[in-house]
Amino acid sequence: DDNSAQAKVVLLGEAGVGKSSIVLRFVADTYHSDIEPTIGASFLSKIVNLSEGTIKFGIWDTAGQERYHSLARMYYAEAVAAILVYDITNRKSYEAMKNWHKELVEQGPKNLIVAIAGNKEDLVEKEQVEMEEAKSFAESIGAIYKKTSAKTRYGIEQLFKEIAIKIKDN
Ligand code: GTP
Ligand code: MG
Repeated sequence: DDNSAQAKVVLLGEAGVGKSSIVLRFVADTYHSDIEPTIGASFLSKIVNLSEGTIKFGIWDTAGQERYHSLARMYYAEAVAAILVYDITNRKSYEAMKNWHKELVEQGPKNLIVAIAGNKEDLVEKEQVEMEEAKSFAESIGAIYKKTSAKTRYGIEQLFKEIAIKIKDN
């Protein structure tokens, strides 16, 4: 494979689950509790070095607000991997994540690598979706599963690293 190739990754999920926060933690190692909702989508990139070689991630951070839903298709159509984010303290966001997966199966690219991120791990005492349930859903669809916290950094590096490894394996 081409070592300098850019791998496009798209983040999808309900408004407020922490998609932008995950991306900003990964790309710039920053976190803001007063971050604004994303309008449309934003693009960031980051180079990751692995023993298997270098990956240049091009990351599309989409807007979760419902009025932007139809835009997302443009971004996932081009992607090699999708990160489906939900908030572990919000069951509705978990159901929304499953709907995103359904849409990807019906309309997304073939051979798309899928990762599920159960974000806001730092709020585990308010958890509404137990990890076992989310993990077994992820297993059933062949997805990577990671609990993350953009706030504490928990799981963020590992999430992108596992995606990078899967991209290299493809
Ligand atoms: P949209 O752009 O509207 O789709 O939202 P988003 O998914 O990008 O969420 P965003 O990153 O804007 O975060 C929403 C809120 O959740 C903000 O107040 C963040 O600070 C907060 N947040 C994000 N990640 C975490 C986390 O890991 N833990 C906690 N406690 N709060 C988080
Ligand atoms: Mg956002």
